Amino acid sequence: MDLLDQLMNHTSVRKFTKEKLSSAIKKQLVLSAQSGSSSNFIQSYSIIEVTDPQKLEIIEGLSNCFGYVKDAGAFYVFIADLNKHAQILAQQDHSLAALKNEEAFTVSVVDTTIAAQTLSVYAESLGLGICYIGGIRNDLFKMAELLELPEYTFPLFGLSVGYPAEKNEVKPRLPLQDIQHVDRYQPMTEERILAYDHLMQDYYGQRSSNSADTDWSRKMLAHFYEPRRPQTKEFLKKQGFLF
Ligand SMILES: Cc1cc2nc3c(=O)[nH]c(=O)nc-3n(C[C@H](O)[C@H](O)[C@H](O)COP(=O)(O)O)c2cc1C
Repeated sequence: MDLLDQLMNHTSVRKFTKEKLSSAIKKQLVLSAQSGSSSNFIQSYSIIEVTDPQKLEIIEGLSNCFGYVKDAGAFYVFIADLNKHAQILAQQDHSLAALKNEEAFTVSVVDTTIAAQTLSVYAESLGLGICYIGGIRNDLFKMAELLELPEYTFPLFGLSVGYPAEKNEVKPRLPLQDIQHVDRYQPMTEERILAYDHLMQDYYGQRSSNSADTDWSRKMLAHFYEPRRPQTKEFLKKQGFLF
């Protein structure tokens, strides 16, 4: 299949067969993650494969992703990781100020995301399904305790990978004209938002599982109704970041 066709057919998989991934495939997946670009070659991420059934059970519960963490073919947690770099600076008796700030954290989040998405695309090319699990950030302190995360690390998201038992319909993305701009930014107009709402209302109403009477605006209002995950700031502070 052409790569663009593969990308455009992506859907998150939330029901896997019981088959676990072989160690050969898992090695290939991590190699694919490592091949991505990295800002200034900082390589500021780590990937933790969680195999301990008790830990998987806890993560599945705190993420509220029942049925697609423990039962995935493999489950990874992607860690934005500046701990290695902190060690290098400390060895040289140098200040850690440059890796505690927003810029260093942003770079690390970008590196980590590129690694995860590269792995995801490769996994899908093998016929596997994936689902990102941002739900792990519902309890950052528990995640840090479970995975023994040191200072200057942040558990960004989980990633379930496995053989799909069910596949959802592809979700219609925003029309190109609403994300693609030339020479200057153009805000989305009210009419364009309404047009996408109609498209998404049809999608949500007609999809074969979890059909619902909703649209994109209503989803976004619910999502941003109030600040989410208020412990993030406190957790970042505990990990040594200073924003
Ligand atoms: C960073 C990130 C975190 C996500 N967290 C979750 C999650 O916790 N639980 C879940 O079911 N899906 C999660 N998703 C999947 C999104 O809901 C999904 O990508 C989006 O609805 C688009 O659907 P699609 O991937 O099927 O095209 C996450 C996706 C991303 C990129």
